[in-house]
Amino acid sequence: MSTEISPDPFAANLARWEEQVDIHVGSDFYRVKEFRAGGTSLDPLVLSEIGDVRGKRLLHLQCHFGLDSLSLARLGAEITGLDFSPKAIAAARKLAEETGVAARFVEARVDEAAAKAGPGYDIVFTSWGVLMWLPDLDVWAKNIAECLAPGGFFYIAEGHPMLWTLDDEGTTVAENFRIVRSYFLEGPQQWENAHDYAEPSITLRHFKSNEWQHTLGEVVTALAAAGLRIEFLHEHDKLVWPGVPSLEKSGPYYMAPDGAPRLPLSYSLKARKD
Ligand SMILES: C[S@@+](CC[C@H](N)C(=O)[O-])C[C@H]1O[C@@H](n2cnc3c(N)ncnc32)[C@H](O)[C@@H]1O
Repeated sequence: MSTEISPDPFAANLARWEEQVDIHVGSDFYRVKEFRAGGTSLDPLVLSEIGDVRGKRLLHLQCHFGLDSLSLARLGAEITGLDFSPKAIAAARKLAEETGVAARFVEARVDEAAAKAGPGYDIVFTSWGVLMWLPDLDVWAKNIAECLAPGGFFYIAEGHPMLWTLDDEGTTVAENFRIVRSYFLEGPQQWENAHDYAEPSITLRHFKSNEWQHTLGEVVTALAAAGLRIEFLHEHDKLVWPGVPSLEKSGPYYMAPDGAPRLPLSYSLKARKD
């Protein structure tokens, strides 16, 4: 990792995400086959906390190739998915068409969400692996607040910033649960990692990325400063991907094995626009 700043910090990220779309659509991790057969890609935590979405106008930020967006549409939401990757948006539209699920997909960066996806949403939703791609959470929160209709809410489920401090290169519990990075880090951090989390056998050609580590305090404060009222902030000892190698699979989640410290691995938050 280095702290060298490239002229356009989004360019490397976009190239990486563009390469990952086709890999992810075909991966076991995303279980597109199960979705095509009528299943949902949403995990039980998100399903229970987001509640009844029937008839709700729902904006899904950083929707990737639309799997969660289309799962929410199947539950009755009127969906707009937004992502900055043209390939992801094309794949999302294709999947919607092939499965006969109605949804709108918009190609845009998160900092353009209000301008390009428009206002009036009952719910703005985003989840799992999103905030590290965003340099400025004040801009993020302002866009969310502008997209929401009065009375609407924002919901996020995300990896806990505590996770980023752990040693993800070792394999044992002792290695993985020691702190090797600061909780407070200025971004962007420039990473070089050719490993694809969904298809570990593949070596990515676009292996560079620029990422920003945001603390939990930053998330809450940015949303509050944008005028949203926090309804809950829940911390969880589980995660939908194996954040460090020694986590063990438990249903749809990964959790620390017996004997390892119970740390917050993820969090979920709901905030309302009054
Ligand atoms: C890990 S996915 C998160 C979505 C979902 N949890 C999933 O796994 O399908 C991250 C998504 O963020 C998108 N992304 C990254 N930076 C972005 C930005 N600045 N604006 C909009 N989308 C962005 C990527 O294209 C990618 O589809």
